[in-house]
Amino acid sequence: MYKIGVLPCDGVGPEVVREGKKVLEAVARKCGVKYELVEYDVGGDRYLRTGEVLPDSVFQELGTMDAIYLGAVGHDDVQPGILEKGILLDIRFEFDQYVNLRPIKLYPGVETPLKHKGPDDIDFIVVRENTEDMYVGIGGQMKRGTPDEVAVQTAVYTRKGTERIIRYAFELSRERNTDKTVYLCDKANVLTFGHDLWRRTFEEVGEADYPDIKRECAFVDATTMWMVKNPEWFDVIVTTNMFGDIITDLGAMIQGGMGVAASGNINPDGVSMFEPIHGSAPRHAGKDVICPIAAICAAGMMLEHLGETKAGEMVENAVVEALGSGRLGDLSTRSGVSTTQQGDIVVEYIQKQ
Ligand code: IPM
Ligand code: MN
Repeated sequence: MYKIGVLPCDGVGPEVVREGKKVLEAVARKCGVKYELVEYDVGGDRYLRTGEVLPDSVFQELGTMDAIYLGAVGHDDVQPGILEKGILLDIRFEFDQYVNLRPIKLYPGVETPLKHKGPDDIDFIVVRENTEDMYVGIGGQMKRGTPDEVAVQTAVYTRKGTERIIRYAFELSRERNTDKTVYLCDKANVLTFGHDLWRRTFEEVGEADYPDIKRECAFVDATTMWMVKNPEWFDVIVTTNMFGDIITDLGAMIQGGMGVAASGNINPDGVSMFEPIHGSAPRHAGKDVICPIAAICAAGMMLEHLGETKAGEMVENAVVEALGSGRLGDLSTRSGVSTTQQGDIVVEYIQKQ
């Protein structure tokens, strides 16, 4: 019996989580997976009501779960950073979910804005470091609001943090057994302290323990260019927290939009969290128009992670069938197929398997 903590949170989060739960229920019934969902009311509304972001008690309970399933964080009436840091980043950091896995995969039947590129060309995975870099929140401000203002935002990289994510990427490349090449995406030509550490670690670890995996390095600016021009070059990209954030929004676009991009925040030895990479999109909230595929795929990744391989594959297959059928529309918010209907269609393809 798995215990799964559910955090629908803000904006469109609750709508896409609702569809993810629907698919979870269908696939669990088919595969005999037993689980219990524990849903928590956290997010912007609770914060505005009570001033609480992620109460200690919720935090403690999340630590006892087998996995966490999250919708989206961010509220128009709450100052940016409070919810993002207090919920999402706190969970990632405190549970040491040091891998942010973000598959960039163009499914058949989904349109990419890249001319002449298809599903064979766009199928890679970004391994984003998830606990360091500029995200650590170290820095400060001085003379705020004056012409002499000073702001410092520090990027932190540790050997341990760098090494463990790089090892994860090499292992994943072995497991995928496709290109057997790992690209390191960095800015070592400018960040000559932090990204020098990354480069040295990449070369040392790769040479010593992964001689079967080819190593390539690409600067982040060039990476964005190649992701558009030659996405077929990539199989596994390992990168820093900030660059990983940026290049995976681009990745989402080339795989057909934010509506299809899923992610897992993984602690291989602890509690992991699964979420769509999109935000709370308050403009679209409550209208039943947003694409739930990313949240559904995140639920699939969660099943895989729990070791429920068959159930995970079933979700993936159902998504492929649903997208391939053309019945989900063009995946934009004006596709004409509602969030609810899209979830129902995926459930149909679960039941057909
Ligand atoms: C993401 C998001 C978050 C991030 C924000 C909401 C803090 O953009 O998951 O990509 O920057 O990691
Ligand atoms: Mn992001």
